[in-house]
Amino acid sequence: MKNFWFISIFALCLACSSDSSGEETITETPQDDEYIPVPDSNLNFQVPSNFPDATYDISNNQPTQNGFELGKKLFYDGKLASDNVVSCGFCHIQDFAFTHHTHIVSHGVDGALGTRNAQPLFNLAFLDEFTWDGAAQHLDTQPIIPITTDVEMNSSFNEIISKLSEDQTYQNMFKDAFDNGEISSENILKALSQFMVMMVSSNSKYDQVVRNEGSVFTEAEEAGLAIFEQKCASCHAGPLFTDQSFRNNGLPIDAQYNDIGRKRVTGLDEDLRKFRVPTLRNIEVTFPYMHDGRFQTLTDVLDHYSDGVQEDVTLDPVFVQENGSRGIPLSNLEKDQLVAFLKTLTDNSFIFDDRFSEF
Ligand code: HEC
Ligand code: HEC
Repeated sequence: MKNFWFISIFALCLACSSDSSGEETITETPQDDEYIPVPDSNLNFQVPSNFPDATYDISNNQPTQNGFELGKKLFYDGKLASDNVVSCGFCHIQDFAFTHHTHIVSHGVDGALGTRNAQPLFNLAFLDEFTWDGAAQHLDTQPIIPITTDVEMNSSFNEIISKLSEDQTYQNMFKDAFDNGEISSENILKALSQFMVMMVSSNSKYDQVVRNEGSVFTEAEEAGLAIFEQKCASCHAGPLFTDQSFRNNGLPIDAQYNDIGRKRVTGLDEDLRKFRVPTLRNIEVTFPYMHDGRFQTLTDVLDHYSDGVQEDVTLDPVFVQENGSRGIPLSNLEKDQLVAFLKTLTDNSFIFDDRFSEF
């Protein structure tokens, strides 16, 4: 329902801007998205003190104010899709740490259904590979997938470039953002990366505690952290809360998609149904969970780990106990404590950071 309204409002806005007549434009006040040139400056991409080094080579595509603003405009622009509606921001909504809230699997143009749950977007400058199965090797090339996939944006760079080239604002913005000023696929991708690279989420309560910035854990959070370190951190490791490996965490095979995971990329049987260990930062707001969005709540996830882990040829050995039973033993109290800890990973200063907002 929410989505329906979103589409309607968006369609309405498109309608009003496209049929504004000559007379009206004289008295019109500047549109929100009217481009006001700013003197360009390099943006300061900072690695948080408790983070590893960035994997993204900033020197190769140094974010600038103009490049960032262009990337943001592109990110929220339906023109990147065949129907002029499904922008990147349509599936990656900031309030939910840039996931597609309420959508189990993503919805693209004309309501076409994908097979996977939209991933959160932050700390991308620290990742080695992208998507649930690592199909994209570089942040600069990742957006080619949604742009050209029929069930996502169903477009092509030729189509996008011709749409953007008709737009005076874009002509100016590309000139200001890039030396060669071209509206090209390369510059579109670079601008999107400049926007996404700046999305760093590192200011949760957890970060404030580990950086000794005055916050302290409650008893339940503290207990949850101890359980987490013992039972979860081998995969959801380090400050990114992922070791970036591909693993099978024992989800029952779903008949509908029968997603083969990492094997889709490598072709190897040993990668069957393995998925990249997801970050757990902002996990409180990125439901539903898992690559296919099958679980609605964190308690559902923990019930899976304690009681639902299935035998599978590639099941991670971590889930097989010495007595032969499967899963991670967790009492109800331990589950409550884990949930309390996981909620300390919510970073509202990121989720509500105006720099990344559409309006
Ligand atoms: C139709 C919904 C949809 C649209 C539109 C969309 N995405 Fe995504 N995005 C997804 C889904 C689903 C995934 C996970 C894909 C997979 O694993 O195969 C994803 C994954 C990603 C990732 C990988 C994140 C990670 O942690 O590896 C990035 C980056 C990304 N999208 C950026 C973008 C950008 C930029 C755009 C616009 C050009 C965009 N997306 C448009 C649904 C969408
Ligand atoms: C052997 C590695 C491993 C261990 C140990 C592990 N996980 Fe996971 N976790 C994964 C993988 C892989 C996925 C994604 C699986 C998928 O979607 O198919 C995942 C998914 C999740 C998700 C859903 C994330 C999302 O964005 O949808 C949560 C929450 C989670 N794990 C929490 C935990 C907790 C809490 C523990 C400890 C009790 C734990 N995990 C232990 C590998 C692991």
